[in-house]
Amino acid sequence: MKDNQSLYTAFQVTLTLLAQSKKAPFTDLIPSDAVLLASQYLSQTKEGKKHLSIFKSPIKRWCLNTLTEWWLPGYPSFLLMRKRYVEQKVEAFLEAYPNGQVVNIGAGLDTLLSRLARRGISNRLIEIDYPLVMDLKKTYSLHHNLIFSGADLSQTPIERVLEDSGFNPKEPVLFLLEGVLMYLPEALAFDLLQTLARLSESSTELLFSAVREDERLFSKNVKRVMEKNNSPFQWGKELAPLASRLSGVGFSLQEQASHEEFYEQFSAQFPMPRVFVLYEYYNYAVKT
Ligand SMILES: C[S@@+](CC[C@H](N)C(=O)[O-])C[C@H]1O[C@@H](n2cnc3c(N)ncnc32)[C@H](O)[C@@H]1O
Repeated sequence: MKDNQSLYTAFQVTLTLLAQSKKAPFTDLIPSDAVLLASQYLSQTKEGKKHLSIFKSPIKRWCLNTLTEWWLPGYPSFLLMRKRYVEQKVEAFLEAYPNGQVVNIGAGLDTLLSRLARRGISNRLIEIDYPLVMDLKKTYSLHHNLIFSGADLSQTPIERVLEDSGFNPKEPVLFLLEGVLMYLPEALAFDLLQTLARLSESSTELLFSAVREDERLFSKNVKRVMEKNNSPFQWGKELAPLASRLSGVGFSLQEQASHEEFYEQFSAQFPMPRVFVLYEYYNYAVKT
């Protein structure tokens, strides 16, 4: 995989978030330390620097936001709400398990674990993504309890990556896989989940997103954008079949939430989206 391809999906999420960060009414909904960290990560590459220059210009920013909403209707709103949803789940986990670990698989340039480490929590935090992506984060997020592990998950078994990252099978763990399993072949994705259930000997929670199988739910551009950038979705599943597939790999589904449920939960903070993203949803499960 070429460098720019392996960075593409990580960049795409971060750029969309940064573009929203100066747009009313979202300004207060994106933490300022998230904006700072994401900008620092991006500034590590030529491509990232080019994008950052866009954010300095209100006109270019407006064009980018308009274009994103046109190409991927509803996506910016979905992204902001899903980040809030994930953050709440991680905070609830850490409250329930003060000695818990959080492992973010396919972390991309997400800033959540770095921000938690900056706040001084001492829990073990692990991020896994392509080496090229992880390298962008190391300089700006140096914390003794935050490990960045570079690996291609289609080539390196997850147990090896976890072992090399200091994962402790005896401590409670939350595995977070946000926007990543759909880029792996389906068999590999479920093998990976099964391995997570098998490896962990303590309370184990799982939060991951999946895409639907029904092609009609995708805006016509989603797949086109992914394929053009050599990051096509490899599989999709409807909600009920996913629940039963999960039980086969050792997890019991507790909750499924899509953009519509996020909005129900966050309607006091977020404006009503013009369009709801229907193709992607989140799954929260515990090890049986
Ligand atoms: C859409 S991004 C999501 C990033 C982050 N989880 C978020 O939601 O902000 C997908 C991430 O999965 C990573 N990824 C995809 N395939 C991977 C693989 N085979 N090995 C390691 N990471 C992979 C990409 O590099 C990218 O950072």
